[in-house]
Amino acid sequence: MPDYSASYHFPRGFLWGTATASHQVEGSNQNNNWSRWEVEPDRVIAGQKAGLACDWWSGRWKEDLDRAVETGQNAHRLSIEWSRIQPARDRWDEDALDHYRAILRGMYDRGLAPMVTLHHFTDPLWMTEQGGWENAEAPEWFERYVRKVIPALKEYCTTWVTINEPNVYAVSGYVYGMFPPGKQSIPTALQVMLNLVRGHALAYRAIHELQPEARVGFAINYRSFQPARAWSPLDRTAAGIQHQFFNDSIPVAAMNGRFVTPFLKQQVPGAVATQDFIGVNYYSRDLVAFDLTRPQTQFIHNFYPKGSDLSPTGFIANVPAGMYEALKWALKFKLPIIVTENGVEDAADELRPRYLLQHVHQVWRAVNFNWPVRGYFHWSLVDNFEWERGWTQRFGLWGLNTETQARVRRKSVDVYEAICRENGITTEMVRRFAPEVLDEIFAA
Ligand code: FCB
Repeated sequence: MPDYSASYHFPRGFLWGTATASHQVEGSNQNNNWSRWEVEPDRVIAGQKAGLACDWWSGRWKEDLDRAVETGQNAHRLSIEWSRIQPARDRWDEDALDHYRAILRGMYDRGLAPMVTLHHFTDPLWMTEQGGWENAEAPEWFERYVRKVIPALKEYCTTWVTINEPNVYAVSGYVYGMFPPGKQSIPTALQVMLNLVRGHALAYRAIHELQPEARVGFAINYRSFQPARAWSPLDRTAAGIQHQFFNDSIPVAAMNGRFVTPFLKQQVPGAVATQDFIGVNYYSRDLVAFDLTRPQTQFIHNFYPKGSDLSPTGFIANVPAGMYEALKWALKFKLPIIVTENGVEDAADELRPRYLLQHVHQVWRAVNFNWPVRGYFHWSLVDNFEWERGWTQRFGLWGLNTETQARVRRKSVDVYEAICRENGITTEMVRRFAPEVLDEIFAA
């Protein structure tokens, strides 16, 4: 092993944090679409439920944010729960707003820069009962909620994610059907996507009206789609269709007002220039093949190649180059870029140290070209409820014992702490935590 030493540093003020979401960490919520979904048969793996989750609602956010700040992080991304703030269509819960004010004050006191997501997959039940985001009124409902929230929280936060992964929300709930409401209809998914764009645009304007200094954007799940056979025009077309539908359509509409997919093109004039930053959630890359044996998925087959560096449940293939690709893609919006999520499920914490260092290295490559990347939020601080995959996937730097609420510190805490404190990565760090990728990260 070479014995040289070297380092890659990030600009001063770079944000190093973790990301969480209300339904996944708070626990004790019976009033949103997921709490209902979880009690239906065969929706969540092994009938698991969010339940108490990480018990943030009773106050364990304090100990977890202590952990974050004590290990060198300077920012945190969390989400607030619409169903708590507006439990019924014509009822607001001021105590819930006070609760979130207390959390944001707690972040301020700890020196953690806040980023608040206003919608992270969950809808209040009253909204679900009226068709959720399929309803043409949904954008206005969202705007009304946002107008209630911003005055209450603006003292403590200026960076807002309107909607987390609108592309995943629409595709999982309306194309694949593994998220509520479990539909499989591309036309309905398109309608939902358009309403999400409209809701985002209304929220963008409302937030700026109420807080002119605010910075507002989406967090888009960027998936790298590579043609399985580079020479094959059919594979290239299939990958291109997925890229346009999944990655591009929503943030491009919020840039130029044109929602363009292979199935539908539509103007959304109100959405022009409604992003102040572009939030990128990157996890993995798919190979995409045109496959005549798969009519049920539009003759498209997505897979991880043989020999991939897979996470324990096979959910994520470790492809750091896709992070660089995602950031390069984000450049076209000509806006500051924030990595709003990146991480891997790995209860044994064997892959995560390497995954973390390799992905932060790719972020550094972008920063080294002066691409405007402002922060990195690792998913996640502590194991939490992973949607239809329940508790089978463990994304936390800290593990969670759901019986006792005990937190278990993984080695990756040390890895991330070293990165945050150094504001960069060093050969010493890579040698210590993931020597197997030293030559890749610090290649001559
Ligand atoms: C993202 C979601 C987040 C979490 C991670 C693993 O798609 O935004 O809530 O589930 O995946």
